[in-house]
Amino acid sequence: MKVDVLLGLQWGDEGKGKIVDFLAPHYDIVARFQGGPNAGHTLEFDGIKHVLHQIPSGIFRENIQNVIGNGVVLDPVILKKELEALKQFNIDPRKNLFISEKAQLILPTHALLDAAYEKAKGSSKIGSTLKGIGPTYQDKIARLGLRAGDIKSADFKKKYEALRDQHKTILEFYDFDYSDVLAEKENLFFEALEYLQAFKITSTEYLINQALNEGKRVLAEGAQGSLLDIDFGSYPFVTSSNTMAAGACTGLGVAPKNIGEVFGVFKAYCTRVGSGPFPTELFDEDGKQMAKIGNEFGATTGRPRRCGWLDLPALQYACMINGVTQLYMMKADVLNSFETIKFATAYQDEAGQQTTQMPYDVAIQKYDPIYVENKGWAQEVKSDSFEQFPQALQNYIAKVEEYLHIPINLVSLGPDRTQTVRRESRQISS
Ligand code: GDP
Ligand code: IMO
Ligand code: MG
Repeated sequence: MKVDVLLGLQWGDEGKGKIVDFLAPHYDIVARFQGGPNAGHTLEFDGIKHVLHQIPSGIFRENIQNVIGNGVVLDPVILKKELEALKQFNIDPRKNLFISEKAQLILPTHALLDAAYEKAKGSSKIGSTLKGIGPTYQDKIARLGLRAGDIKSADFKKKYEALRDQHKTILEFYDFDYSDVLAEKENLFFEALEYLQAFKITSTEYLINQALNEGKRVLAEGAQGSLLDIDFGSYPFVTSSNTMAAGACTGLGVAPKNIGEVFGVFKAYCTRVGSGPFPTELFDEDGKQMAKIGNEFGATTGRPRRCGWLDLPALQYACMINGVTQLYMMKADVLNSFETIKFATAYQDEAGQQTTQMPYDVAIQKYDPIYVENKGWAQEVKSDSFEQFPQALQNYIAKVEEYLHIPINLVSLGPDRTQTVRRESRQISS
């Protein structure tokens, strides 16, 4: 068997959590492979909304093993809170949650460093979620980090203190006052580590590869989105991990030959939270309408999300670097009231040159999108099959497929699990 990968193709918050929960019954294992508590994945069913940050979105389904892979950076304090919140739903993750012993730990000082670096950047700040993601990955690459598997070792405290003291030196260099908060944060950190001792912290790469050998099905759940990828995103306004499909290999210990389908999730329009370039961003009534109807506020930080039209060159780029095999279009219902729906098919630079490629200097130079106007369907969509969708919605889907040469096999029409319309896998000839 192979690992299917589900990931976001835009700047995050495409609706990955909803779809992982929707698809989970078809899988035996759901595994997060990168990111950390910067993610906020929303699931909605039975009238209840759940937001998961580090726990994989298969957790509410029965008989599924949920894996937090080695590529994830893990905040024990946030994880404890998330785990405790599951109790009221009679879910006991001690049984079906597996944490990689190689997952890097986010220390309290990592989050403080995040804040110090952002403050020092002033108006050019990234707009980080301030969860300590960047500094933790920095320490991982610098070979300084502490991992989940270390918490049982006798000298953990000593190693912790050594790294914390290095962080303190950096914080002092940045003139960042941590004295009021650190002691309390450290207490919570060690309390959470104690709590996590009861969980399965293990070699999840063996778990996953053995499962594949036994014919079990694995779904890898991406966090963030391709345009936030550390290598291919709108650098430096990105996150600190490889959010792309290849990240599932390194973040879980799965060989490239064992990757199967790549499901690319995108909104029927576009959003971004935090700073950075966004060529199709809207500042007019249309943008405000999208934000309002789509309830576009960050699931982790509550910050308003910037909104704009669908950006096809960016989407095509994301499909290319991920090898997307199927597209899933989310939040089509948010456009129900629009008479006209645009999408960008190219960019024009300041010299008047047009391109359909993602420009290297998108964070520096201004690129104007070239738009195509589409007739909106201007009605509520209740149908549960593609064939019954209003013609204008069918046309919109067909035009996006035509641009990308990849089939859209799922359309989401609301936040609830049930508001999801799927069709059989189809191929599109290019
Ligand atoms: P993720 O990070 O990719 O999992 O996405 P988020 O959970 O951060 O943001 C997606 C938001 O849109 C959540 O509030 C979802 O409940 C909501 N959502 C998901 N799919 C749909 C949809 O088809 N229509 C509407 N209106 N909302 C949706
Ligand atoms: P999910 O998984 C949307 C953004 C932040 C910021 C940049 C860097 O819910 O789609 P970081 O905290 O990683 O240093 O922030 O990335 N960002 C996200 N935006 N959805 C996310 O996750 C995000 N995770 C990080 O807003 O611009
Ligand atoms: Mg989110």
